[in-house]
Amino acid sequence: MNGDPQVIRQLDEYLSFELTGHRQYLLNAATCRHWGFARLAAAQQAYSEEETTHAARIMARILLLGGAPSMGSPRAVESRDTVAKQLESDRALVSAAIDHLRAAIGICERGHDFASRDLMAQMLDDEELHLDWLDRQLGLIARVGLQEYLQAQM
Ligand SMILES: [Fe+2]
Ligand SMILES: [Fe+2]
Repeated sequence: MNGDPQVIRQLDEYLSFELTGHRQYLLNAATCRHWGFARLAAAQQAYSEEETTHAARIMARILLLGGAPSMGSPRAVESRDTVAKQLESDRALVSAAIDHLRAAIGICERGHDFASRDLMAQMLDDEELHLDWLDRQLGLIARVGLQEYLQAQM
């Protein structure tokens, strides 16, 4: 099946967010585990796995449309030396992914590719929940203080 090249480009660009997220949260999980914050490590590991599932679904859609997933991950994953910096940098990535999805949904709509639009809308739903989780963690740190927050993450 031949898809709209503009839609394929949007899916392929979005794939790079998923691949970056997968790697970034995997690194966060390993680092949190190393620091002894097992609960936070489990949450980060689950988000890394969620992005893997998202990436697989996006790849399947690109292939179905006759495209080739480029697997590019142009965004750098940097190791952060505090939990707060990890959460802030995750928030920046998820916010950028949400901006991309909102624009991509409009492009799918204009190209009359409603199945790709629905797939992107499902991704948007998950990323809004991810952003909400990050905001809750950052809110807790602001409210109860970093020491109290980390105490609860062991
Ligand atoms: Fe995702
Ligand atoms: Fe996510």
